[in-house]
Amino acid sequence: MATLTSNRSAGRRILLGISAGIAAYKSAQLARLLKQAGCEVRVVMTEGAQAFITPLTLQALTGEPVRTSLLDPEAEAGMGHIELARWADTIVIAPATADLMARMAQGMADDLLTTLCLASEAEKVLAPAMNQAMWRHPATQRNATRLAQDGWRLLGPDSGDQACGDVGPGRMLEPEAIVAELLPSPAALAQEATAQGLHVVITAGPTREPLDPVRYLSNHSSGKMGFALADAAVQRGARVTLICGPVALATPAGVERLDVETARQMHEASLRLLDDCDLFIGCAAVADYRAEAPAEHKLKKRDDDEGLTLRLVKNPDIIAEVASRRDAATGRPFVVGFAAETRDLEAYARDKLARKRLDMIVANDVSSAGLGFGSDDNAALLLWRDGDGEGGESLPPQPKRRLADAVIERALSRLPSRHTH
Ligand code: C5P
Repeated sequence: MATLTSNRSAGRRILLGISAGIAAYKSAQLARLLKQAGCEVRVVMTEGAQAFITPLTLQALTGEPVRTSLLDPEAEAGMGHIELARWADTIVIAPATADLMARMAQGMADDLLTTLCLASEAEKVLAPAMNQAMWRHPATQRNATRLAQDGWRLLGPDSGDQACGDVGPGRMLEPEAIVAELLPSPAALAQEATAQGLHVVITAGPTREPLDPVRYLSNHSSGKMGFALADAAVQRGARVTLICGPVALATPAGVERLDVETARQMHEASLRLLDDCDLFIGCAAVADYRAEAPAEHKLKKRDDDEGLTLRLVKNPDIIAEVASRRDAATGRPFVVGFAAETRDLEAYARDKLARKRLDMIVANDVSSAGLGFGSDDNAALLLWRDGDGEGGESLPPQPKRRLADAVIERALSRLPSRHTH
């Protein structure tokens, strides 16, 4: 579980991966700087890395045992590799060699570090370090592109003198520069505080529309994105109410949760909270229709019938109604919707943005494998109505929790200033 401070430096859990490059000597300084900033740091070294710097050095600097092997029963008995993968808020690999990048681009899991990277849903960052010709090689460039597509953030490399005598791109970014990229600046921290005093209401998960006492209409929404948004908002200091349909997820710490079943219950709860809401995010996959008259008793199948006809009636459009009841004077609440589409993403999302009178919409293409419904990752196109112009921003595939941070951040930065107390 992410702690209340996981977006800030203090308590942030950083898994530092070190691979076999001469720049590994700088990893000691990186570990030290991260510790000084208040992060919890655990180190994993590849076998080759240990030829450049000893595990003992990193152990002394972090105060934690250093892991080097996947098949080490003693270490596994302490914190198993899956546990370690879950523990991390961020994985940073510095230096990342050409070989390590190649293995990760292929999705290999042939040592502890690559296995952890595959198993972890943490934010992932790498700082390449290699000879300039190796960096420029089309194979490495291909791998770098693939890793970026897979959600890795690449920091550097720098250009300049190299340990091998060459001059060119491939130097690992200096530890201070890596830390500056990893940890929020004081300005960013001040920005985070903008959620203090705000009430954020989020709908999440599916709704369940009864057909009879034992059957219902529903959909595949897992609720993961809505829960990630609730966690992101509460960590920025907001008061968060999560109105959720039936989901199998733990409530993020500090979030007030209202469980509902049907669209009408979700509608009623949303409107009830409207007077005291600064930011409303409709992330739920609300059933568009419900049975006009759910049967009082279990529907029985009959041998002679030719099928069953259900009459469905429209459910209220919750977010459209919230947006239409927005306070004209204050603009409260700022309304953010979601659009899950399988084609013509931008056109459909823009239509919803306008038709439902939303302030912002998060559009995702749910036809992409591994993204959207039920998965842990998502990509999104953010669209918003901004005064007289319309803006947009494309966010690459990434863990839902990280995407949630970006969505909350973008929404907060667009909230009318009178919303902040
Ligand atoms: O029209 P569509 O269902 O694609 O719109 C998606 C957006 O509208 C989401 O933000 C969803 O939470 C919201 N919605 C709603 N009530 C409905 C249907 C959708 O709030 N009945």
